[in-house]
Amino acid sequence: MDFCEMLDHRRSTRAFTGEPVTRAELDQMLAAGVRAPNACNAQCWHFFCTIDRTLIERLVPEVYNRGEWLRDVGCAILICTDPAELEQRFGSIVRERFSVQDTAAAATQILQCATTLGLAGCWMGAFDRDRACEFFGVPAGMEPVILLGIGHAAAEPPARPRKPMNEVVTLVGNCD
Ligand SMILES: Cc1cc2nc3c(=O)[nH]c(=O)nc-3n(C[C@H](O)[C@H](O)[C@H](O)COP(=O)(O)O)c2cc1C
Repeated sequence: MDFCEMLDHRRSTRAFTGEPVTRAELDQMLAAGVRAPNACNAQCWHFFCTIDRTLIERLVPEVYNRGEWLRDVGCAILICTDPAELEQRFGSIVRERFSVQDTAAAATQILQCATTLGLAGCWMGAFDRDRACEFFGVPAGMEPVILLGIGHAAAEPPARPRKPMNEVVTLVGNCD
């Protein structure tokens, strides 16, 4: 699958078969995540992951109560940032922006890798952060930013429409 095909196939998916994600697939996705661009290559991120079915089934009541579909993913990844390390290196003004940008870049690459592996996933921002920390054993000081659910899609959902380019793009200067 080339890059554009991957972009065409990637969908936020919220229906899964329950088939497992293998450890090798998880390792590949994580390797894609840590190769993401990040501020000064400081890599102030940490990925808490599970492919354990029993744990995954507990995610819905304990961490993200908006979707029963999460029970059927094969893998869950909580992407955290280490704000203290970021603040030490870059100061307090930039640390918040950097931590979100770093984790978003990693999440994007993980989801794109999942697509090339024939898997699908959903990015979740609206999860319970305190419960996620308890559930994944996140140490004090680290902050959870993004929860990913990844697995085998039950069906490929339709592509979600995008606004026309002329609504979201402003070309400045001579761009011809
Ligand atoms: C920052 C961010 C937060 C999101 N939070 C959620 C979420 O909490 N729950 C959910 O089901 N989808 C969530 N999504 C997925 C979006 O709804 C989805 O990417 C968007 O509707 C576009 O659809 P597509 O990914 O299929 O192109 C989130 C995506 C992003 C980037």
